[in-house]
Amino acid sequence: MPVDLSVEIAGLRLANPVLASSGTFGYGLEFAHLVDLNRLGGIVVKGLSLEPMEGAASPRVCETPSGMLNAIGLQNVGVRAFVGEKLPKLAVYQTAVVANVFGTTVEEYCEVLRILEDAAGLAAYELNISCPNVKRGGLQFGSDPGMATEVVSAARRTVSKRPLWVKLSPLVSDIGKMASAVEEVGADALTIANTYPAMCLDAASRSSRIASPTGGLSGPAIKPITLRLVYEASKAVKIPILGLGGIEKADDALEYFLAGASAVQVGTAHFADPRASERLVRSLGRRCDDLNISKISDIRCGFQS
Ligand SMILES: Cc1cc2nc3c(=O)[nH]c(=O)nc-3n(C[C@H](O)[C@H](O)[C@H](O)COP(=O)(O)O)c2cc1C
Repeated sequence: MPVDLSVEIAGLRLANPVLASSGTFGYGLEFAHLVDLNRLGGIVVKGLSLEPMEGAASPRVCETPSGMLNAIGLQNVGVRAFVGEKLPKLAVYQTAVVANVFGTTVEEYCEVLRILEDAAGLAAYELNISCPNVKRGGLQFGSDPGMATEVVSAARRTVSKRPLWVKLSPLVSDIGKMASAVEEVGADALTIANTYPAMCLDAASRSSRIASPTGGLSGPAIKPITLRLVYEASKAVKIPILGLGGIEKADDALEYFLAGASAVQVGTAHFADPRASERLVRSLGRRCDDLNISKISDIRCGFQS
């Protein structure tokens, strides 16, 4: 019997639990000549804002021990160009297309969602709340449960057609508290987590190794830290969790399932191998077979301490 890799995330059936994460797989289309997009459980597209954004100066990324630092500056084509030019081309693939959304005010988040509500071909929304709130002095929406619930409840009132996933910032003192606050105001699922604020300097040139002084750390270096966040959040909420941070191999994904995730996303691994998520789908099936796991969803929260 083949391993059953299918999962259900807040009413959305995915053929397998592996999605490409936002910002690491473009709009999916750029990878279509290298990757069979139909093999992926889903694609979370680059974060969409109301207006197009050029992003930060280069260099925008640098390698770190077991990871990567990035400050892309949320470059994107803007929600209208996404709906007009990218989404119709993505809709031909048998994979769930998830729109990652951000803004600098609550109104901006809602406006982006309103435009997406009228578009065909999307499976879910993923709200990125790791963004500075310009009305509250630049504090991140995701750093404070009050601000997070304000933006999530406004988003909840705005959308009705598709599930609303909320992507949490890892930089919170109590992830369980944040997760349940967001669940209470209507999130259908949680994505845990985004990158960790970090910096890389070059001692010889006395400068930052990227154009911005700080950036977000991702890759294998963060996996044990984010794994714990998934575990703590899963004890606090009933809604499903998509786990991500440093996933490369089948066992990385299985660890996230054991800690409480219902699906996983692959990010930084795409920079070393554009086929990383497609490869993970295959290796996950084989690994489950080796470990006598016939249904991937059965092992969720199944670890022994
Ligand atoms: C270059 C780059 C761009 C990213 N852009 C976004 C983005 O637009 N929206 C978002 O929610 N997360 C973004 N992320 C965060 C990733 O989706 C992911 O949460 C994070 O990198 C941790 O996973 P990883 O260790 O597998 O990369 C970005 C990450 C990288 C490396």
